[in-house]
Amino acid sequence: MIYLDNAATTIHKPETVIEAVTEAMRHVGNSARGTHAGSLDAARIIFETRMKIASLFGCPDPTRVAFTCNITESLNIAINGLFSEGDHVITTMLEHNSVLRPLYRLEKERGIELSIVPADENGCICYDDFEKMIRPNTRAIVTTHISNLTGNMLDIARIGKIAHAHDLLYIVDAAQSAGNIPIDMAAMDIDVLCFTGHKGLYGPQGTGGLCVMPGVQIRPFKVGGTGVQTYLKKQPEDMPVRLEAGTMNAHGLAGLSAAVDFINETGVEEIHRHEMELMQLFYREVKEIDGVTVYGDFSGDRGAIVSINIRDYDSSEVSDCLMQDYEIATRPGAHCAPLMHEALGTTDQGAVRFSFSWFNTKDEVLDAIKAVRELSE
Ligand code: ALA
Repeated sequence: MIYLDNAATTIHKPETVIEAVTEAMRHVGNSARGTHAGSLDAARIIFETRMKIASLFGCPDPTRVAFTCNITESLNIAINGLFSEGDHVITTMLEHNSVLRPLYRLEKERGIELSIVPADENGCICYDDFEKMIRPNTRAIVTTHISNLTGNMLDIARIGKIAHAHDLLYIVDAAQSAGNIPIDMAAMDIDVLCFTGHKGLYGPQGTGGLCVMPGVQIRPFKVGGTGVQTYLKKQPEDMPVRLEAGTMNAHGLAGLSAAVDFINETGVEEIHRHEMELMQLFYREVKEIDGVTVYGDFSGDRGAIVSINIRDYDSSEVSDCLMQDYEIATRPGAHCAPLMHEALGTTDQGAVRFSFSWFNTKDEVLDAIKAVRELSE
């Protein structure tokens, strides 16, 4: 199978990640629940992973890194834990439902106000809209870094600057950029960075987290056992246990730790360069094929995602043909990005998304181009 659904999850992982998980499963206990070797092993693995994640994303304090089971959980923790009745929040049409649904729910249940920066038919936004939408009760801006549908990249440093110039919090969804685009929270004015472990970081599913800048206090989403301050009736105040309750996924985090080592050894910029090369090759060729529509803005730096349609064929039918006849894995349909499909005018047809990773090769991309050409013909 030629796997081109890396925006959903990366299937090909470094061997070191698989070995680290297997090894952890042989001896790791429950972190912070004892002084025996198993418990201490787990605690050390988890703390080391916090340090590596903090350093990768420019988070000044590793104790401000809280782990979750995926980025949807991270975004729910941030959004539910920061906004109260009367707060106004600005987001964009590029967002995934992991941002939109928590915000819609708070709009309905907690009376927050929501403004959505529009996107044009190429999925581009106008940055001035953020300034224009700011109200006296605006509390935060929440945006993705890269659209999971078009691959368009937002200038998060520019949005962070706007947010901080108006004393707003800036929350970033880095689902599609963590591991393949350099991110520096401090330099980019990001207050909360949400990430997942199983996509561009090449870690196991079931890992993710959020990095929270010092001074930003998020109300806990879940509460429970922490192994510390047991006689308190509420969740301890200190990070990271403030945002973590229950047994940690030490097995998965051992894999994430090895994954970050792999990212650092390979180099985030080198990974980005390789992915861009594959993505640009695919884009250049398929955009010339009669009957193919390509979505998104390819004029600047972006993520390694190309979404297309072939004539007016249903995107699921095309994706299915790609798998059945060519053994090429893609993702069709709506991609949990309802507003982005509205902007592109693809709510009925959906789109066929091709997304590339470090482990893809030029030959695989050439095969994918040939398949699109044949299907279109
Ligand atoms: N959010 C993931 C995707 O875009 C699952 O496919």
